Amino acid sequence: MASRTTALASLSAVAAALFAIILAPALPLTWSPWKWSRISADLVVMNATIYTSDPSLPFAQAMVVRGGRILRVGSYSSVEDLVGQETYVLNLNGNVVMPGFIDSHLHLIYGGLQMGRVELRGVKSQEEFARKIKEALRGKLHGEWILGSGWNNDLWGGELPLASWIDGITPDNPVWLSRMDGHMGLANSLALKIAGISNSTCDPVGGAIVKTLEGEPSGLLVDSAMKLVLAVIPEVSIHDRRDSLIRASKYALTRGVTTVIDFGRFFPGTSVDHIWQDFSDVYQWADSSGKMLIRVCLFFPMQTWSQLVDLIQEKGRALSQWIHLGGVKAFADGSLGSSSALFYEPYEEDPYSYGLQVTDINWLQNATLHSDKFGLQVAIHAIGDKANDMVLDMYNTVVSYNGMRDRRFRIEHAQHLVPGSTIRFGEQRIIASVQPDHLLDDANSAEKKIGTMRAQRGSYLFRSLIDSDAILAFGSDWPVADINPLGAIKTALYRVPPGWENAWIPSERMALYDALKASTISAAYAGFLDQELGSLSADKYADFVVLPVDSWDQLAGDLPTTVLATYVNGKQAYP
Ligand SMILES: *[C@@H]1O[C@H](CO)[C@@H](O)[C@H](O)[C@H]1NC(C)=O
Ligand SMILES: *[C@@H]1O[C@H](CO)[C@@H](O)[C@H](O)[C@H]1NC(C)=O
Ligand SMILES: *[C@@H]1O[C@H](CO)[C@@H](O)[C@H](O)[C@H]1NC(C)=O
Repeated sequence: MASRTTALASLSAVAAALFAIILAPALPLTWSPWKWSRISADLVVMNATIYTSDPSLPFAQAMVVRGGRILRVGSYSSVEDLVGQETYVLNLNGNVVMPGFIDSHLHLIYGGLQMGRVELRGVKSQEEFARKIKEALRGKLHGEWILGSGWNNDLWGGELPLASWIDGITPDNPVWLSRMDGHMGLANSLALKIAGISNSTCDPVGGAIVKTLEGEPSGLLVDSAMKLVLAVIPEVSIHDRRDSLIRASKYALTRGVTTVIDFGRFFPGTSVDHIWQDFSDVYQWADSSGKMLIRVCLFFPMQTWSQLVDLIQEKGRALSQWIHLGGVKAFADGSLGSSSALFYEPYEEDPYSYGLQVTDINWLQNATLHSDKFGLQVAIHAIGDKANDMVLDMYNTVVSYNGMRDRRFRIEHAQHLVPGSTIRFGEQRIIASVQPDHLLDDANSAEKKIGTMRAQRGSYLFRSLIDSDAILAFGSDWPVADINPLGAIKTALYRVPPGWENAWIPSERMALYDALKASTISAAYAGFLDQELGSLSADKYADFVVLPVDSWDQLAGDLPTTVLATYVNGKQAYP
């Protein structure tokens, strides 16, 4: 009899505990009669200024994490009951906490590879350019390729570099140096020779081999012409690519980035195979061996849409909490810096050039139609005003064929728009995936390239896009620009390029909350990740950053551009 009573008693204790577990998160915050059966948290962040990016509770003081996810957000008294023996309590003394940043557009493994190559970002003269190459030659064997990137001719007055700048110092090593926008590159004469490019080589479709006045290749290759050289550069080893992923992920964490939308090693002129190789050799390897440090959402070349459909059918969209299969990407045009962005009106420097339409529109429409029909998200690169309108029109046509659904079509960059196009982004619910820091590089050159009137009227129209109800998602396009979401937010707020006193197009400056949204919840939305990420809300992953300011007023007065710490799954991942 006694034993039976005990059994019953313990049974009801189990039931009560179960009830407590089921009901606890939903209970009114002060009402917790079952203190004895509390669930204890892994981590409680308290005494913090938490900006949640969740409009239902924008600010909070405390946040509870359990099993890598957020259990509750609120006042300290509302979460106190979850502090148990094993709970780590992090008292932040008022410091600001935000969701981990989502970088909506970058090239992760490529960026990691660049970290180990010649860095030409910021080079300001021909002499410095040559010196960097000379330094890179040290320790290199004869015949070994010298690879680098990041040069910006606008920093030394605009003159494009020539093979002759470096031929004298690189007689025995082929060299390939891509411009910071990745749409143009410089080969030295040995590299041209290896690639078989001579006086008589014709421009490939969608690209240009820049020639000197004498009719010789100058060393510069634009857009699809880059593939002539890229095809002869030896493949990067699996080992280097794996290292690059880890190096790049660690770097992203130092900047507070916990999730990225990765567009892969895919530029006009590169083989689409790279992305698929990286997926299997690097990402699947990292995922299965516990080496993923940040979350990635992967986009694949549109040419390979059916391969992606098959993969999603086999494995689902989320391969794990780390890897999400996103959608497909294609290019409509080139870039402004390389004078290959497609405009309605010609470039100032060349009245015959309107830029390049790098992909046939019929092909693009057909491939978008099929990708969309199979449920893939579509992202298309468009920089010039004409390219943007072309893609907006094409998206409209596809919707009219395939019917309404939540598809979140994206335009990558959306840099230059004619009046009226911002409204179309809003009406068509197209995501404008923009990179604020590019405006720092373009401010000086845009007016030269497309004239003051056009540049002032239609460049980086962030405020207009927001006012038109468009969804803005911020990214870096790393390694084109640095990964630094706080820096990008600051750029969007002030729009003051280096060396300028005033804003470039001040009417397009954004409000702080809109800019924060574009780096968090809207960026998550733009990758179909908003159920799990993008705000500090119950049930989402506990990915967050701690900033070096201890009040919201301080942050709003002078936005910091560094993070103190980055947490992924409620665990400190940086420093
Ligand atoms: C919370 O932080 C403030 C500094 O912002 C500090 O003065 C206070 O003592 C802290 N409160 C607790 C309970 O630790
Ligand atoms: C290419 O053109 C230059 C200048 O006209 C000439 O000197 C050179 O011999 C030509 N090279 C070849 C391989 O025809
Ligand atoms: C459109 O795409 C489908 C699927 O890739 C292909 O089978 C078809 O030939 C394409 N049609 C045209 C007109 O290119």
